[in-house]
Amino acid sequence: MPNHKIALLPGDGIGPEIAREAVKIFKLVEERNDDTSFTITEAPFGAGAYFECGHPFPEETKAVCDAADAIIKGPIGLSHEESQKIPVDMQPERGALLPMRARYQTFANFRPVSLPKALAHFSPLKPEVIGDGIDLVMVRELVGGLYFGAKEVGVNDAGLRYVRETLEYDEEQIRRVSHEAFKLAMRRKKVLHNIHKSNVLKSSVLWNEVLGEVAQDYPEVEVRHVLVDAAATALCLNPGQFDVMVMENMFGDILSDQGGGILGSLGLMPSSCKGPEKSYYEPSHGSAPDIAGQNIANPYSMIGSVAMMLEDSFGMTQESKNVWSAMQSVFADGFSTPDLSKPGAGVKMIKTDEFGDKVVAALAAMPRP
Ligand code: IPM
Ligand code: MG
Repeated sequence: MPNHKIALLPGDGIGPEIAREAVKIFKLVEERNDDTSFTITEAPFGAGAYFECGHPFPEETKAVCDAADAIIKGPIGLSHEESQKIPVDMQPERGALLPMRARYQTFANFRPVSLPKALAHFSPLKPEVIGDGIDLVMVRELVGGLYFGAKEVGVNDAGLRYVRETLEYDEEQIRRVSHEAFKLAMRRKKVLHNIHKSNVLKSSVLWNEVLGEVAQDYPEVEVRHVLVDAAATALCLNPGQFDVMVMENMFGDILSDQGGGILGSLGLMPSSCKGPEKSYYEPSHGSAPDIAGQNIANPYSMIGSVAMMLEDSFGMTQESKNVWSAMQSVFADGFSTPDLSKPGAGVKMIKTDEFGDKVVAALAAMPRP
């Protein structure tokens, strides 16, 4: 019987609250699947870890993650004011998150931007723009580009302070993420939107060249090239034209937040980050310190990350689908949490843990896979 070792890093702010709901789902999935068990080990990560252990990605946490088959982490970070109490390089984004991505070389970040019809009222887009709902996946390169390039800060010959950050990719980095995007396109609608800025950036020229070579292996996939700025507009005007989109790191950071914007909330954005050996899973949003500790944050992105792990790391495709539908059925029944509801939408308001319990009840009522 496969036993999957999972590292659970609850993170900061609302992280621990929504992580608790994720654990409920793992427990139920374990009960429902006789041939599967999970060993979940919790470890500190983020700003809390810095205050507790002196480092946002402590050695003990690295050991837990190294030993795990997959990692699930909550959001990290503090308010701008609180962050100032932490030295710049120990702040959780620079001191924990980027080192985690580098450590496991999680080069392909999958960010579904998905809004079934039952949730369409969340979106700020007009119903006629949304049509049958929004359903696309952004594939973001996650360990290259400006985020990881050489950086230099100094004073130049003219006595002016300057900064230099490097956007660097080699062809293999582009190739491996392109393959992931094409493979996903093959499993979906066989259309891949390549997002680039080759009218200005040489990095995009190479990106397009390598992606074009990879395309030879997937003759059934139609590739459509779109400039990143035009893609930002098109996402608002006609999101239905997109299915799988692939892009470099920085473009993906920005466009995926826009993806959350067209859904109506980043709270609806789970994600998976795939490396050669293991993947980690996380909400794409921040730790929402303003609503932390109140039991009002929706656990959708965390439970969605569980669903992504079940499918991508453990091959439990049907159970993953069940978790998604269980979660969507809670919204379809008219329930939501205060952070994910609009005044006047007639939502029956429930708390974080109640939302988790309803997902559990819905999943428990489904046939076992
Ligand atoms: C994301 C986040 C991170 C990023 C931050 C927290 C470093 O915005 O995952 O999109 O920029 O990649
Ligand atoms: Mg981001």
